[in-house]
Amino acid sequence: MTRIANAALRAKLTTAEEAAKFVKHDMNVGMSGFTGSGYPKLLPGAIAARIAEAHDRGEEFKIGVWTGASTAPELDTALAEVDGIKFRTPYQSDPMMRRKINDGTSDYADIHLSHLAPMVWAGALGKLDLAIIEVTSIKEDGTAVPSSSVGNNKSFLDLADKVILEVNSWQSEGLEGMHDVYYGTRLPPDRKPVMITSVGDRIGQPVFNINPEKVIAVVETDHEDRNTPFKAADADSEKIAGYLLDFLQNEVKQGRLPKNLLPLQSGVGNVANAVLVGLMEGPFEQLTSYTEVIQDGMVDLLDAGKMTVASATAFSLSPEYAAKMNREAQDYAHKIILRPQEISNHPEMIRRLGVIACNGMIEADIYGNVNSTHVMGSRMQNGIGGSADFTRNAYISAFVTPSVAKGGAISCIVPMVSHHDHTEHDVQVLITEQGLADLRGLAPRRRAKKIIENCAHPAYKDMLQEYFDHATKTANGQQTPHDLRQALSWHVRFLETGTMLPA
Ligand code: COA
Repeated sequence: MTRIANAALRAKLTTAEEAAKFVKHDMNVGMSGFTGSGYPKLLPGAIAARIAEAHDRGEEFKIGVWTGASTAPELDTALAEVDGIKFRTPYQSDPMMRRKINDGTSDYADIHLSHLAPMVWAGALGKLDLAIIEVTSIKEDGTAVPSSSVGNNKSFLDLADKVILEVNSWQSEGLEGMHDVYYGTRLPPDRKPVMITSVGDRIGQPVFNINPEKVIAVVETDHEDRNTPFKAADADSEKIAGYLLDFLQNEVKQGRLPKNLLPLQSGVGNVANAVLVGLMEGPFEQLTSYTEVIQDGMVDLLDAGKMTVASATAFSLSPEYAAKMNREAQDYAHKIILRPQEISNHPEMIRRLGVIACNGMIEADIYGNVNSTHVMGSRMQNGIGGSADFTRNAYISAFVTPSVAKGGAISCIVPMVSHHDHTEHDVQVLITEQGLADLRGLAPRRRAKKIIENCAHPAYKDMLQEYFDHATKTANGQQTPHDLRQALSWHVRFLETGTMLPA
């Protein structure tokens, strides 16, 4: 049974190989996809094959790739490994893409997730030639039901010169009704308030508007998302989650947070999983989440009645939970809302709702500046994603990391971060498996004391204290003491010797 009820769009059905012929060198292509869900499954591979053939003939062929966030090997690996990407934005986490960014093959602009759509509306990234968007189905009136992520799809569909749709029958038809696609956003000076005042508010429509004139091809697929198996939290993640949950409980006790907390945002990964598991066992009821991705643990909280509603822009589920969601999507449609990322990451809503944000990091320094993106100052890891959208506007902003990396050769607490993503002004709480530092209201020298005492690994604690004492003397006790000759010496030592520990 076809999922394409509109006759005019059904007439445009073709193969991915045929559709890919439209793509030419130097085009900018906006693709669906956010954290491994809802990305086009066939077109990127077909485009990559054309690029490889062109390169074999000695012709230049590279395209700009704009997405929602990270995608999957079928998209990022496929295009990156044929050196087919001239420019990539925003967040990515693909090893091959990372390699091509760091060897200079592909330019990468690390744009905040909430900023990309407005930049595209403004034309700041140039013309969007083509949108390739996965949808669940096309309705008789020509509108389309989104699939497992919304990302920047609404903006790409609106603004691209031409559109190719992938209709994926693996996606559950039960998703219809879960999405809230808001068409009221404008650029300044015409911006109006976005009237979401509680997590569950719906202000848009459940489908994308599609201009049929722009659609040059429709391709049918039946491919599952890149759903990665759930990894049980390790001991360090459990400790980190425990400190965060104790902290939140104490905030409730002190009357600074309501009993059901405030809407939660969390990054993905081991610590986020451990926090969600901890919430399952913890005392909090009637929780809500205003975040980017729906993870397994959130589905458990919804099932258990511990969480009442979750708003995000995409799913990021294990294969088992994705299968469950595919079977039962309709039952979740009133508890889960998927929105465009300029809404899920909108500073206005994050500030108004009072989101509690918790994200991973690469390193923090003794004053609480955070590096989320660059290894040893130069090498791009993934990108800033939505971490700054949330951190800068959150009611409480926390960052988490194990205190050491690479078997202890790297301290994740350093004298000075080798790249700045989040400044001391925005970072309120730091947590490692060693402990938690509540930095709110503390002057830099007091922040340093707390971070070193509570968060540093024992192997590096004395070294950090020595640096701080030395810097305090060198800088005559100024506001934020540093000795600039030594501030990055730990990184230099690692690059030269393979460890931050002195010989
Ligand atoms: N210096 C050098 N390398 C470090 C490091 C440090 N201080 N800390 C971690 N690493 C390395 C790890 O060894 C690992 O390397 P590998 O891939 O070679 O094994 C890699 O960085 C990832 O570390 P891991 O411990 O697996 O962390 P993670 O999966 O929790 O991810 C970030 C941490 C920072 C990379 C991740 O949270 C991120 O991309 N954040 C930015 C975007 C974001 O916050 N999004 C979420 C919400 S919007």
